[in-house]
Order: sequence, then C-alpha cells, then structure tokens
Amino acid sequence: MVFSKLSISQLATFILSLSIAVVKAQDSEPSVTASIEPAATVVPTDSSAGVPLFAAEAVQLTDPVITELVNDDNEQISDYAYLFAFDNSSAIAPATRSRRVRRAAKCKTYPGDLLWPSKLIWGIFDLLLGGALEPIIPIASPCYKNSVYNNYDATKCAAITAAWGVEKTHYEDPGSVFYPTYEGKTCLQGTDPTALGNCTQGGYSLYSVKATNVAQIQLAVNFARTLNLRLVVKNTGHDYNGRSTGKDALSIWTHNLKDIKYVANYKSPSYSGPAMKIGAGVQGFELYEAADKYGVSALSGICPSVGVAGGYSTGGGHSPLMQLYGMGADQVVALEVVTAAGFFVTATPEINADLYWALLGGGGGTFGIITSAVVKVHPKVAVTTSVFNFTTSATVSNETFWKGAKAFWDEMPTYNKAKTYSYFFISLTNGVYAFEMFPFFATQKTVAEYEALVKPFFTKLTELNIPYKISTQHFDTYYPAYKATFGTINYRVGGYTSIPGNRILPAANWEDATLSAKTFDAVKHAVDNSLRIGLYHQAPANPAKIINSVNPAFRNEASMLIAINPVPATATPAQLAAGSLHLTDVVLGPLRDLTPNGGSYANEADIAEPNWQQAFWGSNYARLLQIKKQWDPTDLFYVHHGVGSETWVVDDGDRGVQTQDGRLCRA
Ligand SMILES: Cc1cc2nc3c(=O)[nH]c(=O)nc-3n(C[C@H](O)[C@H](O)[C@H](O)COP(=O)(O)OP(=O)(O)OC[C@H]3O[C@@H](n4cnc5c(N)ncnc54)[C@H](O)[C@@H]3O)c2cc1C
Ligand SMILES: *[C@@H]1O[C@H](CO)[C@@H](O)[C@H](O)[C@H]1NC(C)=O
Ligand SMILES: *[C@@H]1O[C@H](CO)[C@@H](O)[C@H](O)[C@H]1NC(C)=O
Ligand SMILES: *[C@@H]1O[C@H](CO)[C@@H](O)[C@H](O)[C@H]1NC(C)=O
Ligand SMILES: *[C@@H]1O[C@H](CO)[C@@H](O)[C@H](O)[C@H]1NC(C)=O
Repeated sequence: MVFSKLSISQLATFILSLSIAVVKAQDSEPSVTASIEPAATVVPTDSSAGVPLFAAEAVQLTDPVITELVNDDNEQISDYAYLFAFDNSSAIAPATRSRRVRRAAKCKTYPGDLLWPSKLIWGIFDLLLGGALEPIIPIASPCYKNSVYNNYDATKCAAITAAWGVEKTHYEDPGSVFYPTYEGKTCLQGTDPTALGNCTQGGYSLYSVKATNVAQIQLAVNFARTLNLRLVVKNTGHDYNGRSTGKDALSIWTHNLKDIKYVANYKSPSYSGPAMKIGAGVQGFELYEAADKYGVSALSGICPSVGVAGGYSTGGGHSPLMQLYGMGADQVVALEVVTAAGFFVTATPEINADLYWALLGGGGGTFGIITSAVVKVHPKVAVTTSVFNFTTSATVSNETFWKGAKAFWDEMPTYNKAKTYSYFFISLTNGVYAFEMFPFFATQKTVAEYEALVKPFFTKLTELNIPYKISTQHFDTYYPAYKATFGTINYRVGGYTSIPGNRILPAANWEDATLSAKTFDAVKHAVDNSLRIGLYHQAPANPAKIINSVNPAFRNEASMLIAINPVPATATPAQLAAGSLHLTDVVLGPLRDLTPNGGSYANEADIAEPNWQQAFWGSNYARLLQIKKQWDPTDLFYVHHGVGSETWVVDDGDRGVQTQDGRLCRA
C-alpha cells in the first residue's frame, strides 16, 4: 500500500517537535535511518452492516501486513514489528511473544518505565501511521512565559483566551477537553502571565493519533496493548468527567472521520427504512444539516457540537426528538468497530450481538472504538417552539413563584403523553427566583394544538397573578426549529466554576400526589442549595423495545434534572471536595432517596456519583461487566466510572475531585 512517504527531513521535524513535549531528548538514542511506509492495505468495501465501508474504513491493518513488517529488510521495522501485531499474529514467533509485557502489571506503562517506548520507537510508530502521530501540547501553553513548551505568544494567548468558552476551540484541538477541572487545571488560559502559575502536561494525553483511517486506529490499539500504555479515545472532548483524556496516554482522535452517507432504503433483519451512515467524527450539527438536506430528521443532543457516534450514542443519548423515536442509542442499527484485540468488526443485533448491545448504552471508551454507525432517520417533523419565563418580583412572592413552577411540574405527565419535550432552568440570583423555558419543543403540533396543550398551565399563572413573557413560533421541519432555539444557547464550555450532576426522575413519582409534592420539594431544595438547575420534561418512545444497554431508568422517565453546583475559580482541593460533597449529598441526595427506581445519566454525571454501577446501568450492569471481560480482558480501555473501572484507580494525589492527572494503576 503506497501512501506518500515521509522524508527524512519531515522525520527530523517530527523528532524536533517531540522534544518540545515533556519527553526528555536522549541524545544517545538512535533515530530512524530509513523511510518507512505506512502499515496498511486496502480491503474490499463490503460489510455485513448493510452499507459499504467508507474509504477510510477500507484502509486496514491485516495479518499479511504484519507479516510484511516482520520480514522487512530494514531491521528497525522487523525488530519492532511485534509491537504492532495482533495477539494471535501468525508472523510473530512465540519467542518474540514472550518478550511482551506482563499483562498483570500493577500500573500502565509510564515515562521512565523500562517498557516506555524510546524516541526511536515513537518515530517508527509515526511512520507506520503515515505521519499521523503528534505530541499533545496543552492548548493554553502560549500564555506561559517559562513553560517546558517554550512557546509563549501573547497574540495566540489572547486569541485562545477570548475563545476559551467556544466549543470549537476545544473540539478542533487533538488534546483539549471542555471541562479542565478533570484534566487537573494544569494549564489554564489567561492573558496576564504573572497571574498564571505553571503550565504542565498534567492530565492531558501525551500523544495523539490523528486518525483518518482504520489502520491507524488498529496500529495504535495494538501498540498500546502490547506495551500496556494508557489508551484514550477523544472525539470532541465534550465529556463531563474527563473521560476523553489521561495523563501520559496515547490518544486516538476520531474527529476527522467526517463521512456521511444517506441510504434511502436500508434493510436489515431489524430495520427497514431510511438511514444514514456516519463516521465517528460527525457532530450533531453536521448530522442535522445532512438530514435536513435529504428531507428527513435525525437524532442528536441539544448542543450542536456533541459527537453522535462516539460518546452520545454509546452513553444513551437524549434528544429533542426522543419522545417520537426513542433514545440516541436506539437509532443505531449497525456499527463498525476496532476491538481491543485490534480487529475491525461489524456489530449489529445479529452479528457480534453482545458487543452491539454493550456498546449502545454501556458507555464510550470502554468496549471498542467505533469508526462509523448506521443510524435510523425519520420523516420530517413540524415543531412549535415556545420560549417563556417568569420571576419573583414586588408583586410575585417566593411562595407564589413556587406555586407557578409547581403548576408546570404537575403538567409534565400530560406533556410527555402529548409527545413533547422541554428544557428549562430554575435559578436563584440575588434573592430572585426565575423560571426560564428555553424552549418548549412541541413536535408534530400546530401553534393552536400547542396552545391548547399548555392552556391549563398559563391559566394557573394568570390566576396566581404571575406576569410572564412568551414567544411562540412554528417551523415546518426540525432543523430550523432546533437552530432557532437550542442552536442559539451559549453552552459555556471551558468552565471550571461549577460541578454538575443529574438525576433521571421516573414517571411513577407523579402518580401519587404526595410523592409528587415531595419530589417537587426536593427540586426546590436543589435550587436553594445549588442556585441553578436545568430540567427537562422528556420520555423516550418505544420503552418496550430494548435491544441495547441504555440505563433502564430512561425507559420509565418523565424528567431529568441537571444540578450545577458553583465552586470558586481558584478552588483549593479542599474547596472542590466540599463543593463535590455538597452536590452529591445535599443537592442530589434527597432526589436520589425519592427515586429508587430512577438513575443517573452517565454522560452528564456527578464525578463522584455514589453506587454508580447501579445509577448508570441498573440491572444491565452484570451483563455489561461480563461482556467487558470477554472483549477487553486486559482492560486496554479505561474511563472514569466506566464498566469494569472499579478495579483501577487514577492516582492524582488529592485534588478534591477525581482528575485524570495521575497514573492509572490497579486498585
Ligand atoms: C453543552 C453540552 C450539551 C450536551 N447535551 C446533550 C444532550 O442534549 N443529550 C445528550 O444525550 N448528551 C448531551 N451532552 C453529553 C454528551 O452526550 C456527552 O458529553 C458525550 O460523551 C459526548 O461525546 P463525544 O464523543 O462528543 O465526546 P468526547 O469527550 O470526545 O468522548 C466522550 C466519551 O466517549 C468516548 N468516545 C468518543 N468517541 C468514541 C468512539 N468513536 N468509540 C468509542 N468511544 C468513543 C470517549 O473515549 C469518552 O469516554 C451534552 C454535553 C455538553 C457539554
Ligand atoms: C486471529 O483472531 C482473529 C479473530 O478471532 C481471526 O479472525 C484470525 O483468523 C486469527 N488469526 C490467526 C493467524 O490465527
Ligand atoms: C512552577 O514550577 C517550578 C519548577 O518546577 C516550581 O519551582 C514552582 O513552585 C511552580 N510554581 C507553581 C505556582 O506551581
Ligand atoms: C425569597 O427566597 C430567597 C431565597 O431564600 C431569599 O433570598 C429572598 O429574600 C426571598 N424573598 C422574599 C421577598 O422573601
Ligand atoms: C423571557 O421570554 C421572552 C419571550 O419569549 C424572551 O424574549 C426573553 O429573552 C426571555 N428572558 C429570559 C431571561 O429568559
């Protein structure tokens, strides 16, 4: 397979850039002496997923490619070929296999360890990847005058600082993550160099494989498995709990796998109808836009930049269309996956059914690396959107405000039954309570139908003499309705002044008036103790048709509450720990007690969620753990509070909350 070869001068540039990273240059080490071609071959594009492989997926690492490496005349390749081989590669002699890592090592392999790859080996790896390896440089490092990166640049720093809250800043960078708290806050932005501390690599991964084909992912998986390296998968970096970064990790960046293909008549034993095949890097806004172009609608999150086939679908995925079509994970009819063993496999309800079941709901970065997904798409949906709000004031007392909010609460079962969705905030700012609906998303409703649906609630507000502002609009299709509402929200990423957590509230909590009132009191208590909460009324369609491992709590859901607990920007570990405990116990504790059949959404979770196996997966956990052991027996994949993670610990010292700034070792 011929790609453009890397020249020696390009290699020199690469090695130079490596020395900028924390890896200390060892002058005595040999460097690569010959050009090396990428290790890959092109395979036929047929797939049992029912849609042909994308071109990027047809470029694969196969056993014959490993055999070629083993037999290469260049000793630098043949000697190290075993590092990139599949476990059972026929080309690797048993004697060479015995040189491999003891899998039971207490910790992953870290710089300074005997097994840590030399500069030469990283260089060979890069050449076999076709030049896709790059050191991760903390994104805000240009703000620091005396960092090891030696890249101070006031202009770049000003640009990064100004754009810190913008999603694109982080999703277009191979190493950055949306919430720096969980990286360890080791290189924050800021234009005043004297106010900044040091910039260090911290919990940022060390190297990134900027994947543009499957062979690169397979090479990285085999390399990390053979050497027992910490391996991370990063897509957008959206994750709430630092699950897309890891200290000294090799990170596989899926962001550039952007292919989208519309399939008008998809057919498989479990689904016939329109579908789209999307690469692992496709984000919500790209899927929405493509679906709109073909006159259909697709599911993703409320934030435009969420990665659809990565964390979103694997975590469950709630969406403004879930009341019509089910969870995000329910849309996925087939997956292409690189397994922990390095093999490229298809997973559907019929093929590798256990892996399919576990991947959809069991969480990202745990069972394998998805390279693409085939998702159901649906007829176009008309939407009435409505934005409204009310607050306490000279004429609206606290008591009256809460009566108004309770009136909305009481209507939530009716709104779910009518297959609508909403997202709103209740906050307390300087003694003023506010209820801000943004938006009520009335799918398949005309304005008149929507107004009839919400009339009892607004009648109640009028009876209570609560003035409100409202603005209602109708759209013929989903995407413009989405763009005008969810698409305009500033999601304030990059922040480190709050700790979030959530609770999925079951419909049963509304069935009994006393229980409903108690649950509502716990919501009010959450507002009073965290100052701002987000609430959804939402209930996924088709609760009976479960072919994946999505948290069972979603199947009988009526609402989800997101609590956002403030912490100081300069919080000490003790302050973070206190803030985290406050969130877990004071803010969310009463709701947890009142919803024993509820749960928590792992994708927007409290970093310290207690009894998380039950909260995230309920009765599915035992089977998920069994499948994890089968497909990833050496725990190549690890994420915080992921399936099987209880036998590992990230030793980050004492940060107040669990960060990824530490070595990953067996507990
Ligand atoms: C502002 C905001 C709004 C949100 N809105 C919603 C919403 O409306 N609905 C909803 O359900 N969720 C929502 N989320 C949560 C979101 O679904 C999760 O953060 C999700 O994990 C993002 O996935 P990602 O791949 O984009 O992010 P990343 O941080 O890159 O990855 C998340 C996890 O998935 C793993 N992963 C990524 N790609 C792959 C892959 N190809 N194969 C295997 N594992 C992979 C990563 O290793 C990591 O563990 C929101 C989050 C934010 C910050
Ligand atoms: C290695 O295992 C894979 C997956 O089980 C299998 O497809 C392949 O044939 C095996 N290779 C050898 C050389 O045994
Ligand atoms: C920054 O790093 C230097 C050198 O390692 C160390 O002496 C100093 O204490 C650090 N400063 C801060 C604020 O962490
Ligand atoms: C309403 O409650 C808040 C929070 O307890 C308080 O700060 C505020 O003073 C109260 N307002 C009135 C008018 O009592
Ligand atoms: C309140 O609702 C009105 C009408 O929809 C809207 O124009 C305004 O921006 C909203 N204000 C807040 C603070 O949400």
